[in-house]
Amino acid sequence: MEFGFGTMIEKLKKDPKTIVFTEGSDPRILEAASRLLASSFLRPILLGNLDEIEKAAEEAGYNIRGARIIDPENYERFDEMVDLFCELRKSKGVTPEQARKTLSASNYFGTMLVKMGEADALLGGATYSTADTVRPALQLIKTKPGNNIVSSCFILVRPSATGENEVLAMADCAINIDPSEDDLVEIAGETAECARLFGVDPKVAFLSYSTLGSGKGEDVDKVRNAAAKAKERYPELPIEGELQFDAAVAPRVARTKCPGSEVAGHANTFVFPDINAGNIGYKIAQRLGNFDAYGPILLGLNASINDLSRGCNALEVYSMAIITAALA
Ligand SMILES: CC(C)(COP(=O)(O)OP(=O)(O)OC[C@H]1O[C@@H](n2cnc3c(N)ncnc32)[C@H](O)[C@@H]1OP(=O)(O)O)[C@@H](O)C(=O)NCCC(=O)NCCS
Repeated sequence: MEFGFGTMIEKLKKDPKTIVFTEGSDPRILEAASRLLASSFLRPILLGNLDEIEKAAEEAGYNIRGARIIDPENYERFDEMVDLFCELRKSKGVTPEQARKTLSASNYFGTMLVKMGEADALLGGATYSTADTVRPALQLIKTKPGNNIVSSCFILVRPSATGENEVLAMADCAINIDPSEDDLVEIAGETAECARLFGVDPKVAFLSYSTLGSGKGEDVDKVRNAAAKAKERYPELPIEGELQFDAAVAPRVARTKCPGSEVAGHANTFVFPDINAGNIGYKIAQRLGNFDAYGPILLGLNASINDLSRGCNALEVYSMAIITAALA
């Protein structure tokens, strides 16, 4: 797992960040938090009941001394948080009573800690679903200026015996269920930028079941048009599409199906046509291709907030915490 982490850790050592974990008493979070506290480049905030968290940590044998623990039930700035929440959700007619109830849940409470500047970043989803982790961020943090959507990518890393890791980016495998042409363009730009942070020199393939018109249909048109728009919007970025996956990654197939392309046969940044393809695709790489998957990393959001898989282990929490904080 050492790809790019050294650089991120160095960055965090110079500028330590505060990260809030919404599921503060989960043993996987406690294990990751104890490891982070020991290395002191990240300041964890654990949400939940103080006694419960301390008991859970003691029982599992994790030292969480130094972690800030905040219980939404007796947070000193809760009234201020309620007011800000009502202000942010004014257009939805949220009442203070509704706000108090919503903010008693740690996914909303934690997101508001980021909004209020108490934390630089948030990592949740050890028990919350993706939708329940992401929705508060969509509603309260919103997209960053110039972006229309929040999307996500996975970074896939396959260690090799030579020590040269193979690193790929795949998007959007987790957020936008059926992205439009314009959404795909934005997803491509954001994913390429994220890929660079992990040392990838992005070559972007817009994936389809068709290569340059070999198949027909609305789905193909969507991907082809998106690739054309993306080439216009990011002239400096190598982009090809629409491409089948084999034409994207296999040079021999690319020579037949898409000759002369800088990207075909060598793509390392993949834009899937929809969440079905993307979610299945990254899991195939992970489960059958021996890639480690880091993500989903949320893109286009106005703060660094990320979602864990509910099946995650402590090492994955630790890795995602470093990524999330480094992106803050
Ligand atoms: C992300 C997701 C949860 C949003 O769904 P939702 O909560 O039903 O969304 P809604 O349409 O009710 O919108 C809620 C808010 O988020 C905003 N929003 C929704 N999708 C957005 C996006 N992609 N980018 C930016 N904002 C978005 C809406 O504008 C709305 O804002 P508002 O309340 O201020 O008006 C939904 O797209 C989803 O379930 N995606 C798949 C998640 C998943 O299961 N992934 C697979 C596992 S990894």
